[in-house]
Amino acid sequence: MKILGVSAGTRSGSNDCMCTEALMGAKSVGAEVEFIRLFDLNINHCTGCVACVNSIFNGRGNMCAIKDDFDWLLDKMLDADGIIFSVPIFEKGAAGIFHTIMDRFGPRMDRGNNIIATQIAEKLGGKIPDPRILKDKVISYMGIGGSDWMTRIEADFGIHALTPMWKTIDNEVFSWSLGILSDQIKVQRANQIGKNLAEAAKDLKNAVYQGDKGVCSHCHCREFYFSTQGKAICCQCGIEGVINNNNGVYTFEFPEEQLRHAHDTLDGKFIHAADIDTNNRRAGALRGTSEYKERVQAYRDFIAASKPSEVK
Ligand SMILES: Cc1cc2nc3c(=O)[nH]c(=O)nc-3n(C[C@H](O)[C@H](O)[C@H](O)COP(=O)(O)O)c2cc1C
Repeated sequence: MKILGVSAGTRSGSNDCMCTEALMGAKSVGAEVEFIRLFDLNINHCTGCVACVNSIFNGRGNMCAIKDDFDWLLDKMLDADGIIFSVPIFEKGAAGIFHTIMDRFGPRMDRGNNIIATQIAEKLGGKIPDPRILKDKVISYMGIGGSDWMTRIEADFGIHALTPMWKTIDNEVFSWSLGILSDQIKVQRANQIGKNLAEAAKDLKNAVYQGDKGVCSHCHCREFYFSTQGKAICCQCGIEGVINNNNGVYTFEFPEEQLRHAHDTLDGKFIHAADIDTNNRRAGALRGTSEYKERVQAYRDFIAASKPSEVK
């Protein structure tokens, strides 16, 4: 059983070391382990070209137009039974490099999209996406911050896991951690997170989330978006409900029916894919009109006339 550790920190910094500690924990319960530093790789930003979406829905697999080290990393992830990410906290959320990984997962690694892509490719005799994408897998995250500004990172992690529907085992934040290696409690916790992940990988069917229970009873998130209509929307799974305060304890109440829409369920993913398809068809028809084309041309002419800056 293979556990892959991925650090998004500086060389031999807190993230590299905590990730290594987690891998030591995993190894102590029988895992074969491998460590990767994201900054040793050449990984570029997603440009939003949607080549992946087009190839998925045209039965041509799920290719990415960017040729860099991402596919090498993806291959390592798809081969692993479990993955542990250690990521610095930047501006309260995950560091930019992790957001780039999330974007590069984006539509291309979405489990619902890959099921649809497989069905289309089988029907058209096209290219079936890598079947390893649809394999169950466990994943844990450690967010490491130099202070206690850290309120967005767990939701970033949860959103990464819900794209391929990998099962999160731990989603932990370490605050005030610049001298983390001299803090035995935090170091031990990283080791335990590694053990938890490896044990979960041994028995995927019975793997359960082991982290903080959070506020959303569906996905454990603590982050909510409050609409002006009085609704609370879970920033991770997208379920809509209300937040109540019962004697100082926040609870998130929602109608049972909402579970069908949750972003981390296949039902929710298929509803989302159908909504995007409807919208794309409508937008496709609009973009073909002469009115639309004239407006785009007017914007191009405006920018050309304003002499855009040239990159040096
Ligand atoms: C651009 C930047 C933004 C940061 N923002 C936060 C923050 O919002 N909250 C926090 O706790 N630490 C923040 N930090 C501290 C980093 O989380 C800390 O330097 C990092 O975990 C060190 O990791 P490393 O030793 O593995 O490189 C920030 C650091 C940088 C460079």
